[in-house]
Amino acid sequence: MSSGGKQDIYQGMKLIVTGGCGFIGSHFVRLALRRLRTGQVVNLDCLTYAGRGRNLADLDGDRRYRHVRVDIASPAAAERVIKEKPDAVVNFAAESHVDRSIRTALPFLRANTLGAQNLLDAARETGARFVQVSTDEVYGSIEGRGRAREDWPLRPSSAYSASKAAADLCALAAHHTHGQEVVITRCTNNYGPWQFPEKLIPLMITNALHDLPLPIYGDGLQKRDWIHVEDHCRGVWLALQKGRAGQIYNFGMGSEPSNIGIVRQLLRILGKPESLIQHVKDRLGHDRRYAVDCRKAGRELGWKPQVRFAEGLERTVSWYRENVRWWLKLKDRAFREYYLKHYGSTLRQGALGGGGGR
Ligand code: NAD
Ligand code: TYD
Repeated sequence: MSSGGKQDIYQGMKLIVTGGCGFIGSHFVRLALRRLRTGQVVNLDCLTYAGRGRNLADLDGDRRYRHVRVDIASPAAAERVIKEKPDAVVNFAAESHVDRSIRTALPFLRANTLGAQNLLDAARETGARFVQVSTDEVYGSIEGRGRAREDWPLRPSSAYSASKAAADLCALAAHHTHGQEVVITRCTNNYGPWQFPEKLIPLMITNALHDLPLPIYGDGLQKRDWIHVEDHCRGVWLALQKGRAGQIYNFGMGSEPSNIGIVRQLLRILGKPESLIQHVKDRLGHDRRYAVDCRKAGRELGWKPQVRFAEGLERTVSWYRENVRWWLKLKDRAFREYYLKHYGSTLRQGALGGGGGR
């Protein structure tokens, strides 16, 4: 993508990115700084278990970048947005793991819904444009019904997707009521470097590297439309630059591998045996299929994905192979506790081996 023309509208300006110490937000902060020769990125992130300031260690010394540790649902975050007077706010911060939302829903409502509303209110006060980074999960499970378009009804089925759908409605309400300049993006499942090893792809890679069981929920035939994180970030960047206020844009690849198919593919890349796969009790309320229609993003934003799945998966495996210290630190005591509580009773003994917490 060239950096000329309309994509330069944020040159010299200040962006607030929330959740920039997490998986997708950290890629977006880097992309924004690559695109902006001048300007600033202020990252508001309270560093939950999923956020690491060191995920952006390569930006040390870059005077265009700052991290502020603050909870987006707090008054301090609203004050900070107002004080910074940004040109735009891009909201990635969220509790993002469906399995955790099944156990404890409240933190999801607080961060994902109240946090979004808090930022919307503050952005309105300063006149900043607002991009709400949402998810295809708000459409719910799509079985034999084609691909969700942006005008489809919301049918979230987990506390995670319900909290994100609620935030989308709050953002649309702010546009409708106040004419606030708000754009919503809804992307499919992301994969790539720096993804916390609780999600399917990094969990399977990191477990397999230590010859630990790979827990597949139910029959493993559930389908997701996996997209490389860089393609998602390119989409959010275009939505920030060109998205029409009050509009929603879907992003996805248009392919639907099954979970078990992906895990087999990973095992082939890693040279590990399929005997590591272990079918475990299914996730409660497990959505069978997500699929989105992305033609609007192509038409209006000029977006199309660039990373083929097979190539992106190979690159991702290489990254986890080369960054063992990064993910071993994340598989710490707290992670082991979560893992044992979540999978312990269904996985055969030795599920965590000696890998976690080293
Ligand atoms: P992540 O869990 O890796 O990172 C979330 C980040 O937000 C962390 O750095 C965390 O510290 C921060 N955060 C959480 N609550 C906060 C709060 N109250 N205040 C400030 N910071 C807070 O998540 P991710 O996978 O990078 O997802 C980022 C966004 O993209 C989310 O909004 C998610 O709904 C959306 N999304 C994710 C996917 C996916 O496949 N991961 C797909 C589509 C959309
Ligand atoms: P996940 O990465 O948690 O993303 P989401 O639930 O947001 O789609 O899960 C992707 C798919 O993989 C989903 O169908 C659940 C499944 N899955 C497993 O089978 N085993 C696991 O251990 C995990 C974490 C996920």
